[in-house]
Amino acid sequence: MHLTQSTQRTPSHDGRLEARTARDPRFGKAMDPKDLMTRLRGALGAHDWAGQLEEPEAALARLAITLEARSEYTTGRSERIAELARRLAAAWGLSREDQRNLWRAGLLHDVGKLGLPGDCSAKSGPLSPDDRLLVERHPEIGYEICRSLPSLQTVLPLIRGHHERLDGSGYPDGLRGESLTPALHCLIVADYYDALTHARPYRRALSQEEAFDMLREEVGLGRLLEDSVELLSHVVREAPVVHFS
Ligand SMILES: [Fe+2]
Repeated sequence: MHLTQSTQRTPSHDGRLEARTARDPRFGKAMDPKDLMTRLRGALGAHDWAGQLEEPEAALARLAITLEARSEYTTGRSERIAELARRLAAAWGLSREDQRNLWRAGLLHDVGKLGLPGDCSAKSGPLSPDDRLLVERHPEIGYEICRSLPSLQTVLPLIRGHHERLDGSGYPDGLRGESLTPALHCLIVADYYDALTHARPYRRALSQEEAFDMLREEVGLGRLLEDSVELLSHVVREAPVVHFS
């Protein structure tokens, strides 16, 4: 079990983005209960992909997606990331098994948020430092939730590692350099890109161009692998990412 915390912390991408984007008064409004029910019904309904997963895995994925559906800002996020990471892996030339693992990891990568106290991942404003420390435990919690399922063993490093950074500044383990596999780079940039291009309660969505400016800035700082960002740019330009909602 790996429960070490990285000692090298840099502001997360949401934290940096908060500083770059103006607060928009349209965000942070209360959710209409009817909208919530519609979203939850959609999340709990039949999914084309459910038959491609083993039953406990599909149940976990549904739980994660239901959690996302509680917020209009995160609805559909896991399915978008799963598809983008899978396409990126295919463009990278990774094996079919890696592509499938990335798709499954995309669906489950934030399942650890189920274990966070309260709902600090869906607050209407920027997180306090204490809340951020709690939220940053979600990859470890997701790892712990999934590791009891034999079918998920090959997906565990992706779930645990999706917030790591090339220079060791990520979390929870501060992995660096070649400890990050090509498959993990695919999930990291897919997750990052989706976060940047979708609004949060406290900031607007970036345009595709703005998002790649920021991702390339991260490359310059040594946090992201240049090849993964440029390949992502190619994949996103080739075909727009499908939006599930
Ligand atoms: Fe995450």
